[in-house]
Amino acid sequence: MVIGILTVRDERYHPNRRLMEAAAALGQPLALIHTRDCLSRVREGGSELEVVNGQVPDILLPRIGATINDYALGVVRQFEQAGTAVINGADAIRLARNKFMTLQSLAHDRIPVPDSFLVVNLKGFEQAVAALGGYPVVVKMPSSRQGAGVARVGSRVTAEFIMHNLQDITKGLLIQEYVPSPGRLDIRAFVLGGRVLGAMALRPENGDFRSNIHLTGSGTPMILDRMLRQLAIQAAQSVGLEIAGVDMMVDEAGQGKVIEVNYTPGFRGLEEATEMDIATQIIQYAAHEARGERWT
Ligand SMILES: Nc1ncnc2c1ncn2[C@@H]1O[C@H](COP(=O)(O)OP(=O)(O)O)[C@@H](O)[C@H]1O
Ligand SMILES: [Mg+2]
Repeated sequence: MVIGILTVRDERYHPNRRLMEAAAALGQPLALIHTRDCLSRVREGGSELEVVNGQVPDILLPRIGATINDYALGVVRQFEQAGTAVINGADAIRLARNKFMTLQSLAHDRIPVPDSFLVVNLKGFEQAVAALGGYPVVVKMPSSRQGAGVARVGSRVTAEFIMHNLQDITKGLLIQEYVPSPGRLDIRAFVLGGRVLGAMALRPENGDFRSNIHLTGSGTPMILDRMLRQLAIQAAQSVGLEIAGVDMMVDEAGQGKVIEVNYTPGFRGLEEATEMDIATQIIQYAAHEARGERWT
């Protein structure tokens, strides 16, 4: 039984390196598969897939970040259509790669989320701000990551500047209620197969409101209470992700909200903060899934 990692990075990339180490220690065959080496074919009778200079794995873990493009998503779906077990699957990735579509699923499943709008022009922006009770608001590119497409907007002047200069509005712009920090607790929970493996509290640096670990460099391990644990598990399930990094906020009133669900969560920060071996658990989970066994 072979596990495949679908990736556009090599073995030096932290998650790839850790997954390879973990698989080797378990005696579990594992191959990195680059998306460009996948040849997808559809013809009458079904879908076929060939891995150039490699073999089609029994189970595939797509690990392509928020930059996943339509080609790569097509490849992930092709593996599914051609009969390979895939975690996470293409439908779940399609939802999770878009922050607004994620919020739609969460809200539909009655999971608390920040009040949010999807707009496409200045008029919509202003209507959203008015409905949210005025500035400041948080503005997000629907597909972005590591804090790079997230800003706090405090005035109409900035809103106008954004709407007049944004290069690509085709995905719309997410306008969200701003939950002030300090006063807010940011949490990243790592969910695998319906269980929370671990969680970190994250704090923004002075002068920033974003607490992404790529910006701050570290998190503090934390044990989630029952409510937050359930919230993280339900959020992953709502989007259909078996492996998920769930971003949550607890506001001053103690209300927990889910802000996004990442489908290729990194785990360097969590492994460093908790000294847990996340990579081994991912490999063990994938091996169980491939064999159709229950994971306990
Ligand atoms: N509505 C909000 N109010 C206040 N801070 C927020 C809000 N949404 C996001 N943030 C902060 O910005 C960070 C990045 O936002 P997030 O939606 O997780 O996008 P990214 O994909 O860039 O991680 C969050 O981890 C949090 O610290
Ligand atoms: Mg995030």
